[in-house]
Amino acid sequence: MPRFMERSGISAREATSIARLAEKAGQDAVLAGWIYQRRSSGKIQFLVVRDGSGYCQCVVSKAEVSQETWNEAEKATHEASVLVRGKVRAEPRAPGGWEITVSEIRLIGASPDFPITPKEHGVDFLLSQRHLWLRSARQHAILRVRSEVEQAIHDFFYERDYVRIDSPILTPAACEGTSTLFETQYTENEKAYLSQSGQLYLEPAAAAFGKVYCFGPTFRAEKSKTRRHLREFWMVEPEVAFLEIDGLMDLAEEFVCSLTARVLDRCREDLKRLERDTGKLETVVPPFPRLNYRGAVEILKKKGFPVSFGDDFGGDEETALTTDFDRPAMVTRYPVSIKAFYMQPDSEDPEVVLGLDMLAPEGYGEIIGGSQRIHDPELLLSRIRQHELPLEAFQWYLDVRKYGSFPHAGFGMGLERFVAWMTGVPHLRECIPYPRMLYRIYP
Ligand code: 4AD
Ligand code: MG
Repeated sequence: MPRFMERSGISAREATSIARLAEKAGQDAVLAGWIYQRRSSGKIQFLVVRDGSGYCQCVVSKAEVSQETWNEAEKATHEASVLVRGKVRAEPRAPGGWEITVSEIRLIGASPDFPITPKEHGVDFLLSQRHLWLRSARQHAILRVRSEVEQAIHDFFYERDYVRIDSPILTPAACEGTSTLFETQYTENEKAYLSQSGQLYLEPAAAAFGKVYCFGPTFRAEKSKTRRHLREFWMVEPEVAFLEIDGLMDLAEEFVCSLTARVLDRCREDLKRLERDTGKLETVVPPFPRLNYRGAVEILKKKGFPVSFGDDFGGDEETALTTDFDRPAMVTRYPVSIKAFYMQPDSEDPEVVLGLDMLAPEGYGEIIGGSQRIHDPELLLSRIRQHELPLEAFQWYLDVRKYGSFPHAGFGMGLERFVAWMTGVPHLRECIPYPRMLYRIYP
Protein backbone atom coordinates (compact mmCIF):
# COMPACT_ATOMS: atom_id res chain seq x y z
CA MET A 1 0.00 0.00 0.00
CA PRO A 2 2.67 2.62 0.84
CA ARG A 3 4.38 2.04 -2.52
CA PHE A 4 1.10 2.45 -4.30
CA MET A 5 0.44 5.69 -2.48
CA GLU A 6 3.95 7.00 -3.13
CA ARG A 7 3.41 6.49 -6.84
CA SER A 8 0.45 8.81 -6.48
CA GLY A 9 2.91 11.64 -5.81
CA ILE A 10 1.71 12.45 -2.27
CA SER A 11 3.07 10.42 0.60
CA ALA A 12 0.56 9.36 3.22
CA ARG A 13 3.46 9.15 5.64
CA GLU A 14 3.51 12.94 5.68
CA ALA A 15 -0.16 13.06 6.66
CA THR A 16 -1.31 15.17 9.59
CA SER A 17 -4.40 14.04 11.46
CA ILE A 18 -7.23 16.55 11.19
CA ALA A 19 -7.43 16.82 14.96
CA ARG A 20 -3.87 18.21 14.91
CA LEU A 21 -4.22 20.62 12.00
CA ALA A 22 -3.61 23.60 14.27
CA GLU A 23 0.04 22.54 14.42
CA LYS A 24 0.21 23.19 10.67
CA ALA A 25 -1.46 26.60 10.64
CA GLY A 26 -0.29 28.63 7.65
CA GLN A 27 1.75 25.72 6.27
CA ASP A 28 1.31 22.95 3.78
CA ALA A 29 -0.27 19.75 5.11
CA VAL A 30 -1.27 16.36 3.75
CA LEU A 31 -4.57 14.75 4.72
CA ALA A 32 -5.37 11.08 4.21
CA GLY A 33 -9.06 10.32 4.49
CA TRP A 34 -12.46 9.86 2.91
CA ILE A 35 -14.90 12.24 1.24
CA TYR A 36 -17.65 12.98 3.72
CA GLN A 37 -19.54 15.61 1.76
CA ARG A 38 -19.03 17.42 -1.50
CA ARG A 39 -20.53 20.26 -3.47
CA SER A 40 -19.37 22.10 -6.49
CA SER A 41 -20.03 25.51 -8.01
CA GLY A 42 -18.49 24.76 -11.40
CA LYS A 43 -15.22 26.55 -10.71
CA ILE A 44 -14.79 25.53 -7.08
CA GLN A 45 -15.23 22.14 -5.44
CA PHE A 46 -15.78 21.96 -1.70
CA LEU A 47 -14.77 18.57 -0.32
CA VAL A 48 -15.30 17.78 3.34
CA VAL A 49 -12.69 15.15 4.18
CA ARG A 50 -12.88 13.00 7.29
CA ASP A 51 -9.98 10.94 8.61
CA GLY A 52 -11.46 9.51 11.81
CA SER A 53 -10.00 12.27 13.95
CA GLY A 54 -12.12 15.07 12.52
CA TYR A 55 -13.65 16.78 9.51
CA CYS A 56 -11.96 19.38 7.31
CA GLN A 57 -13.27 21.36 4.38
CA CYS A 58 -10.87 21.27 1.43
CA VAL A 59 -11.36 23.87 -1.29
CA VAL A 60 -10.28 23.10 -4.85
CA SER A 61 -10.34 26.05 -7.30
CA LYS A 62 -10.12 25.24 -10.95
CA ALA A 63 -7.95 28.29 -11.61
CA GLU A 64 -5.30 27.23 -9.09
CA VAL A 65 -4.79 23.49 -9.61
CA SER A 66 -3.67 21.28 -12.50
CA GLN A 67 -6.29 19.74 -14.73
CA GLU A 68 -5.28 16.36 -13.30
CA THR A 69 -6.01 17.43 -9.72
CA TRP A 70 -9.32 18.97 -10.82
CA ASN A 71 -10.32 15.70 -12.50
CA GLU A 72 -9.30 13.58 -9.53
CA ALA A 73 -11.36 15.81 -7.25
CA GLU A 74 -14.37 15.35 -9.50
CA LYS A 75 -14.00 11.57 -9.28
CA ALA A 76 -13.78 11.69 -5.49
CA THR A 77 -17.41 10.89 -4.71
CA HIS A 78 -19.01 10.26 -1.31
CA GLU A 79 -16.73 7.98 0.80
CA ALA A 80 -13.96 7.70 -1.81
CA SER A 81 -10.51 7.69 -0.19
CA VAL A 82 -8.10 10.47 -1.07
CA LEU A 83 -4.77 12.07 -0.33
CA VAL A 84 -4.93 15.84 -0.27
CA ARG A 85 -2.15 18.39 -0.11
CA GLY A 86 -2.77 22.06 0.56
CA LYS A 87 -2.31 25.07 2.76
CA VAL A 88 -3.96 25.15 6.18
CA ARG A 89 -5.94 28.33 6.92
CA ALA A 90 -7.88 29.32 9.98
CA GLU A 91 -11.58 29.44 9.11
CA PRO A 92 -13.78 30.09 12.11
CA ARG A 93 -16.96 29.13 10.22
CA ALA A 94 -15.62 25.68 9.28
CA PRO A 95 -16.24 22.71 11.55
CA GLY A 96 -13.03 22.25 13.53
CA GLY A 97 -11.91 25.79 12.68
CA TRP A 98 -9.55 24.98 9.78
CA GLU A 99 -9.81 24.83 6.02
CA ILE A 100 -7.37 23.61 3.36
CA THR A 101 -6.70 25.37 0.10
CA VAL A 102 -5.92 22.37 -2.07
CA SER A 103 -2.87 22.28 -4.33
CA GLU A 104 -2.95 18.60 -5.18
CA ILE A 105 -5.35 15.72 -4.71
CA ARG A 106 -5.13 11.99 -5.47
CA LEU A 107 -7.98 9.55 -5.56
CA ILE A 108 -6.83 6.36 -3.81
CA GLY A 109 -10.00 4.27 -3.80
CA ALA A 110 -13.15 5.18 -5.71
CA SER A 111 -16.54 4.74 -4.03
CA PRO A 112 -19.26 4.29 -6.61
CA ASP A 113 -22.80 4.56 -5.19
CA PHE A 114 -22.08 4.44 -1.47
CA PRO A 115 -25.26 2.84 -0.11
CA ILE A 116 -25.81 5.25 2.80
CA THR A 117 -26.85 8.64 1.49
CA PRO A 118 -27.89 11.80 3.33
CA LYS A 119 -31.56 10.86 2.85
CA GLU A 120 -33.42 9.07 5.63
CA HIS A 121 -32.86 5.32 5.83
CA GLY A 122 -34.80 2.76 7.88
CA VAL A 123 -32.96 1.34 10.88
CA ASP A 124 -33.12 -2.24 9.50
CA PHE A 125 -31.32 -1.12 6.39
CA LEU A 126 -28.73 0.79 8.42
CA LEU A 127 -28.12 -2.21 10.70
CA SER A 128 -27.57 -4.45 7.70
CA GLN A 129 -25.03 -1.84 6.52
CA ARG A 130 -23.50 -1.49 9.98
CA HIS A 131 -19.96 -1.92 8.60
CA LEU A 132 -20.51 1.24 6.51
CA TRP A 133 -22.85 3.02 8.94
CA LEU A 134 -19.90 3.29 11.35
CA ARG A 135 -18.54 6.03 9.07
CA SER A 136 -21.46 8.38 9.69
CA ALA A 137 -20.99 11.29 12.07
CA ARG A 138 -23.54 10.16 14.65
CA GLN A 139 -22.25 6.61 14.92
CA HIS A 140 -18.73 7.90 15.01
CA ALA A 141 -19.53 10.21 17.94
CA ILE A 142 -21.31 7.48 19.93
CA LEU A 143 -18.46 5.00 19.51
CA ARG A 144 -15.85 7.58 20.44
CA VAL A 145 -17.71 8.16 23.70
CA ARG A 146 -17.76 4.39 24.20
CA SER A 147 -14.01 4.19 23.66
CA GLU A 148 -13.40 7.03 26.12
CA VAL A 149 -15.60 5.32 28.73
CA GLU A 150 -13.69 2.05 28.28
CA GLN A 151 -10.40 3.81 28.91
CA ALA A 152 -11.88 5.70 31.86
CA ILE A 153 -13.03 2.39 33.39
CA HIS A 154 -9.54 0.93 33.24
CA ASP A 155 -8.07 4.15 34.60
CA PHE A 156 -10.55 4.26 37.49
CA PHE A 157 -9.57 0.81 38.73
CA TYR A 158 -5.88 1.19 37.93
CA GLU A 159 -5.69 4.39 39.99
CA ARG A 160 -7.31 2.57 42.91
CA ASP A 161 -4.94 -0.44 42.84
CA TYR A 162 -7.36 -3.01 41.50
CA VAL A 163 -5.93 -6.00 39.65
CA ARG A 164 -7.56 -6.84 36.34
CA ILE A 165 -8.62 -10.47 36.18
CA ASP A 166 -9.85 -11.70 32.82
CA SER A 167 -12.65 -14.15 33.42
CA PRO A 168 -13.32 -17.03 31.03
CA ILE A 169 -15.99 -16.85 28.34
CA LEU A 170 -16.59 -20.61 28.07
CA THR A 171 -18.05 -21.76 31.36
CA PRO A 172 -19.50 -25.04 32.65
CA ALA A 173 -22.56 -23.57 34.43
CA ALA A 174 -24.94 -20.62 34.70
CA CYS A 175 -24.27 -17.54 36.83
CA GLU A 176 -27.40 -15.44 36.26
CA GLY A 177 -30.17 -18.00 35.81
CA THR A 178 -30.57 -20.73 33.24
CA SER A 179 -33.14 -19.06 30.98
CA THR A 180 -30.65 -16.94 29.04
CA LEU A 181 -27.81 -19.41 28.48
CA PHE A 182 -26.05 -19.78 25.16
CA GLU A 183 -25.07 -23.39 24.83
CA THR A 184 -22.08 -24.69 22.89
CA GLN A 185 -20.66 -28.18 22.46
CA TYR A 186 -17.34 -28.15 24.35
CA THR A 187 -16.26 -31.73 23.75
CA GLU A 188 -18.20 -34.67 22.43
CA ASN A 189 -19.73 -35.34 25.85
CA GLU A 190 -19.57 -31.96 27.47
CA LYS A 191 -21.55 -28.78 27.02
CA ALA A 192 -20.24 -25.32 27.77
CA TYR A 193 -22.08 -22.02 28.10
CA LEU A 194 -21.04 -18.52 27.06
CA SER A 195 -20.45 -16.47 30.18
CA GLN A 196 -23.33 -14.39 31.58
CA SER A 197 -21.01 -12.69 34.10
CA GLY A 198 -17.43 -13.01 35.30
CA GLN A 199 -18.48 -12.66 38.93
CA LEU A 200 -18.09 -16.26 40.06
CA TYR A 201 -14.49 -16.22 38.84
CA LEU A 202 -13.77 -12.86 40.43
CA GLU A 203 -14.76 -13.96 43.92
CA PRO A 204 -11.85 -16.43 44.29
CA ALA A 205 -9.58 -13.82 42.71
CA ALA A 206 -10.70 -11.29 45.35
CA ALA A 207 -9.32 -13.75 47.93
CA ALA A 208 -6.02 -13.68 46.05
CA PHE A 209 -5.75 -9.94 45.30
CA GLY A 210 -8.25 -8.11 47.51
CA LYS A 211 -9.62 -5.76 44.84
CA VAL A 212 -10.18 -7.07 41.33
CA TYR A 213 -12.25 -6.33 38.24
CA CYS A 214 -13.02 -7.84 34.88
CA PHE A 215 -14.24 -6.13 31.76
CA GLY A 216 -15.24 -8.09 28.71
CA PRO A 217 -18.01 -9.48 26.54
CA THR A 218 -20.96 -11.11 28.25
CA PHE A 219 -23.71 -13.20 26.69
CA ARG A 220 -27.42 -13.51 27.39
CA ALA A 221 -29.75 -15.42 25.10
CA GLU A 222 -32.43 -12.76 25.58
CA LYS A 223 -35.62 -13.87 23.87
CA SER A 224 -37.29 -10.49 23.76
CA LYS A 225 -36.55 -7.48 21.62
CA THR A 226 -36.21 -4.39 23.79
CA ARG A 227 -34.18 -1.25 23.47
CA ARG A 228 -32.25 -2.18 26.62
CA HIS A 229 -31.18 -5.72 25.79
CA LEU A 230 -28.42 -7.09 23.63
CA ARG A 231 -27.44 -10.75 23.34
CA GLU A 232 -23.76 -9.86 23.53
CA PHE A 233 -22.77 -6.85 25.62
CA TRP A 234 -19.76 -5.68 27.58
CA MET A 235 -19.85 -5.71 31.33
CA VAL A 236 -17.38 -4.27 33.82
CA GLU A 237 -17.40 -5.99 37.20
CA PRO A 238 -15.44 -5.04 40.31
CA GLU A 239 -15.29 -7.46 43.25
CA VAL A 240 -13.88 -6.38 46.60
CA ALA A 241 -12.90 -8.38 49.68
CA PHE A 242 -14.24 -7.21 53.07
CA LEU A 243 -16.69 -4.84 51.39
CA GLU A 244 -20.34 -4.82 52.47
CA ILE A 245 -23.47 -3.29 51.01
CA ASP A 246 -22.91 0.30 52.16
CA GLY A 247 -19.35 0.35 50.88
CA LEU A 248 -20.61 -1.16 47.63
CA MET A 249 -23.07 1.71 47.19
CA ASP A 250 -20.28 4.23 47.79
CA LEU A 251 -18.11 2.49 45.21
CA ALA A 252 -20.86 2.38 42.58
CA GLU A 253 -21.62 6.07 43.15
CA GLU A 254 -17.98 7.11 42.93
CA PHE A 255 -17.52 5.00 39.79
CA VAL A 256 -20.48 6.46 37.92
CA CYS A 257 -19.63 10.04 38.94
CA SER A 258 -16.05 9.60 37.83
CA LEU A 259 -16.99 8.17 34.42
CA THR A 260 -19.59 10.89 33.84
CA ALA A 261 -17.10 13.63 34.69
CA ARG A 262 -14.61 12.10 32.28
CA VAL A 263 -17.16 12.05 29.46
CA LEU A 264 -18.08 15.68 30.14
CA ASP A 265 -14.41 16.60 30.20
CA ARG A 266 -13.18 14.73 27.13
CA CYS A 267 -16.17 14.18 24.84
CA ARG A 268 -17.64 17.69 24.48
CA GLU A 269 -17.47 17.69 20.67
CA ASP A 270 -19.09 14.28 20.38
CA LEU A 271 -21.88 15.18 22.83
CA LYS A 272 -22.49 18.37 20.87
CA ARG A 273 -22.77 16.45 17.61
CA LEU A 274 -25.26 14.13 19.32
CA GLU A 275 -27.19 17.17 20.62
CA ARG A 276 -26.94 15.73 24.13
CA ASP A 277 -28.28 18.06 26.81
CA THR A 278 -25.14 18.04 28.95
CA GLY A 279 -26.95 19.91 31.72
CA LYS A 280 -28.58 16.57 32.51
CA LEU A 281 -25.13 15.05 33.10
CA GLU A 282 -23.64 17.95 35.08
CA THR A 283 -25.96 17.06 37.99
CA VAL A 284 -24.51 13.53 38.26
CA VAL A 285 -22.64 14.14 41.52
CA PRO A 286 -22.89 12.57 44.98
CA PRO A 287 -25.00 11.86 46.87
CA PHE A 288 -27.29 9.63 44.81
CA PRO A 289 -30.70 8.95 46.35
CA ARG A 290 -30.74 5.59 48.17
CA LEU A 291 -34.01 3.69 48.51
CA ASN A 292 -34.85 0.23 49.61
CA TYR A 293 -37.16 -2.05 47.68
CA ARG A 294 -40.00 -1.82 50.20
CA GLY A 295 -39.89 1.97 49.98
CA ALA A 296 -39.72 1.80 46.19
CA VAL A 297 -42.88 -0.34 46.13
CA GLU A 298 -44.68 2.32 48.20
CA ILE A 299 -43.55 5.08 45.80
CA LEU A 300 -44.76 3.04 42.82
CA LYS A 301 -48.12 2.37 44.46
CA LYS A 302 -48.57 6.11 45.00
CA LYS A 303 -47.81 6.59 41.31
CA GLY A 304 -50.56 4.13 40.42
CA PHE A 305 -48.56 0.98 39.66
CA PRO A 306 -50.24 -2.27 40.79
CA VAL A 307 -47.06 -3.65 42.42
CA SER A 308 -46.63 -5.60 45.62
CA PHE A 309 -43.76 -7.19 47.54
CA GLY A 310 -42.16 -9.91 45.41
CA ASP A 311 -42.69 -8.24 42.02
CA ASP A 312 -39.69 -7.44 39.88
CA PHE A 313 -39.53 -3.94 38.40
CA GLY A 314 -39.79 -3.60 34.64
CA GLY A 315 -38.68 -0.71 32.49
CA ASP A 316 -41.79 1.37 33.24
CA GLU A 317 -41.40 0.99 37.00
CA GLU A 318 -37.71 1.88 36.78
CA THR A 319 -38.53 5.00 34.80
CA ALA A 320 -41.26 6.01 37.27
CA LEU A 321 -38.89 5.55 40.20
CA THR A 322 -36.30 7.92 38.77
CA THR A 323 -38.42 10.71 37.27
CA ASP A 324 -38.17 12.77 40.45
CA PHE A 325 -34.35 12.64 40.44
CA ASP A 326 -31.70 14.45 38.40
CA ARG A 327 -29.11 11.70 39.00
CA PRO A 328 -29.15 7.92 39.33
CA ALA A 329 -30.96 6.30 42.23
CA MET A 330 -29.76 3.20 44.08
CA VAL A 331 -32.30 0.60 45.19
CA THR A 332 -31.28 -2.12 47.65
CA ARG A 333 -32.87 -4.94 49.63
CA TYR A 334 -34.88 -6.81 47.01
CA PRO A 335 -36.98 -9.89 47.82
CA VAL A 336 -34.93 -13.11 47.98
CA SER A 337 -37.26 -14.70 45.43
CA ILE A 338 -36.40 -12.37 42.53
CA LYS A 339 -32.62 -12.21 42.93
CA ALA A 340 -29.66 -14.49 42.23
CA PHE A 341 -28.67 -17.40 44.47
CA TYR A 342 -25.43 -15.83 45.72
CA MET A 343 -26.89 -12.67 47.31
CA GLN A 344 -26.47 -12.17 51.06
CA PRO A 345 -29.75 -12.01 53.02
CA ASP A 346 -30.29 -8.94 55.20
CA SER A 347 -29.89 -10.05 58.83
CA GLU A 348 -32.45 -7.43 59.89
CA ASP A 349 -35.03 -8.44 57.28
CA PRO A 350 -34.43 -12.02 56.07
CA GLU A 351 -37.03 -11.80 53.30
CA VAL A 352 -34.73 -9.48 51.38
CA VAL A 353 -31.17 -9.66 50.07
CA LEU A 354 -28.40 -7.07 50.09
CA GLY A 355 -28.64 -6.59 46.35
CA LEU A 356 -28.13 -3.25 44.64
CA ASP A 357 -29.56 -1.90 41.40
CA MET A 358 -28.58 1.52 40.15
CA LEU A 359 -31.25 3.12 37.98
CA ALA A 360 -30.20 5.88 35.61
CA PRO A 361 -32.43 8.92 35.12
CA GLU A 362 -34.23 9.95 31.89
CA GLY A 363 -35.71 6.47 31.47
CA TYR A 364 -32.40 4.64 30.93
CA GLY A 365 -33.22 2.15 33.68
CA GLU A 366 -30.89 -0.32 35.38
CA ILE A 367 -27.26 0.37 34.56
CA ILE A 368 -25.73 -1.51 37.51
CA GLY A 369 -26.67 -4.74 39.27
CA GLY A 370 -24.68 -6.04 42.21
CA SER A 371 -24.76 -7.32 45.75
CA GLN A 372 -23.01 -8.39 48.87
CA ARG A 373 -22.28 -12.13 48.46
CA ILE A 374 -23.15 -14.97 50.79
CA HIS A 375 -19.97 -15.86 52.66
CA ASP A 376 -21.38 -18.61 54.90
CA PRO A 377 -20.72 -22.03 53.26
CA GLU A 378 -23.86 -23.75 54.64
CA LEU A 379 -26.17 -20.99 53.54
CA LEU A 380 -24.62 -20.86 50.08
CA LEU A 381 -24.96 -24.62 49.72
CA SER A 382 -28.63 -24.50 50.61
CA ARG A 383 -29.20 -21.68 48.08
CA ILE A 384 -27.49 -23.65 45.31
CA ARG A 385 -29.80 -26.57 46.12
CA GLN A 386 -32.92 -24.37 46.24
CA HIS A 387 -32.07 -23.02 42.81
CA GLU A 388 -31.50 -26.58 41.57
CA LEU A 389 -28.06 -25.72 40.27
CA PRO A 390 -25.61 -28.56 39.52
CA LEU A 391 -23.63 -28.87 42.74
CA GLU A 392 -20.58 -30.51 41.13
CA ALA A 393 -20.10 -27.46 38.93
CA PHE A 394 -19.99 -25.18 41.99
CA GLN A 395 -17.57 -27.07 44.25
CA TRP A 396 -14.73 -24.71 43.41
CA TYR A 397 -16.97 -21.71 44.11
CA LEU A 398 -17.87 -23.16 47.51
CA ASP A 399 -14.14 -23.46 48.27
CA VAL A 400 -14.00 -19.66 48.51
CA ARG A 401 -16.20 -20.09 51.63
CA LYS A 402 -14.32 -23.12 52.88
CA TYR A 403 -10.83 -21.61 53.08
CA GLY A 404 -10.70 -18.23 54.79
CA SER A 405 -14.18 -17.01 53.96
CA PHE A 406 -14.74 -13.26 54.04
CA PRO A 407 -17.63 -10.85 53.44
CA HIS A 408 -17.33 -9.41 49.94
CA ALA A 409 -19.34 -7.53 47.39
CA GLY A 410 -19.28 -6.44 43.78
CA PHE A 411 -21.38 -5.19 40.91
CA GLY A 412 -21.65 -5.32 37.14
CA MET A 413 -22.27 -2.36 34.88
CA GLY A 414 -23.42 -2.84 31.30
CA LEU A 415 -21.20 -0.66 29.13
CA GLU A 416 -23.78 -0.09 26.40
CA ARG A 417 -26.44 0.97 28.91
CA PHE A 418 -24.05 3.50 30.39
CA VAL A 419 -23.01 4.79 26.96
CA ALA A 420 -26.66 5.06 25.84
CA TRP A 421 -27.39 7.23 28.84
CA MET A 422 -24.28 9.40 28.37
CA THR A 423 -24.97 9.97 24.68
CA GLY A 424 -28.75 10.27 25.02
CA VAL A 425 -29.25 7.46 22.49
CA PRO A 426 -32.50 5.57 23.07
CA HIS A 427 -31.50 2.09 21.83
CA LEU A 428 -28.46 0.00 22.80
CA ARG A 429 -27.99 -1.20 19.22
CA GLU A 430 -26.13 2.00 18.35
CA CYS A 431 -23.85 1.82 21.40
CA ILE A 432 -21.79 -1.21 20.35
CA PRO A 433 -19.90 -1.50 17.04
CA TYR A 434 -21.65 -4.69 15.88
CA PRO A 435 -24.86 -5.35 17.85
CA ARG A 436 -26.00 -8.91 18.43
CA MET A 437 -29.76 -8.99 18.80
CA LEU A 438 -32.57 -11.47 18.40
CA TYR A 439 -32.71 -12.26 14.64
CA ARG A 440 -29.62 -10.22 13.83
CA ILE A 441 -26.07 -11.49 13.66
CA TYR A 442 -25.04 -9.84 10.35
CA PRO A 443 -22.66 -8.12 9.67
O1 4AD B 1 -27.86 -7.33 36.91
P1 4AD B 1 -26.96 -8.28 36.18
O2 4AD B 1 -27.59 -9.48 35.56
O3 4AD B 1 -25.83 -8.69 37.23
C1 4AD B 1 -24.87 -9.62 37.09
O4 4AD B 1 -24.63 -10.25 36.07
C2 4AD B 1 -23.95 -9.73 38.27
N1 4AD B 1 -23.35 -11.06 38.25
C3 4AD B 1 -22.92 -8.65 38.20
C4 4AD B 1 -22.01 -8.64 39.41
O5 4AD B 1 -22.49 -8.47 40.51
N2 4AD B 1 -20.72 -8.79 39.20
O6 4AD B 1 -26.19 -7.49 35.03
C5 4AD B 1 -25.41 -6.38 35.36
C6 4AD B 1 -25.63 -5.27 34.35
C7 4AD B 1 -27.05 -4.75 34.30
O7 4AD B 1 -27.28 -3.80 35.32
C8 4AD B 1 -27.08 -4.11 32.92
O8 4AD B 1 -26.43 -2.85 32.93
C9 4AD B 1 -26.22 -5.05 32.12
O9 4AD B 1 -25.39 -5.75 33.02
N3 4AD B 1 -27.03 -6.01 31.36
C10 4AD B 1 -27.27 -5.92 30.04
N4 4AD B 1 -26.91 -5.02 29.13
C11 4AD B 1 -27.31 -5.20 27.86
N5 4AD B 1 -28.04 -6.26 27.44
C12 4AD B 1 -28.44 -7.21 28.34
N6 4AD B 1 -29.12 -8.25 27.91
C13 4AD B 1 -28.05 -7.05 29.70
N7 4AD B 1 -28.25 -7.79 30.82
C14 4AD B 1 -27.62 -7.13 31.82
MG1 MG C 1 -29.86 -6.94 37.19
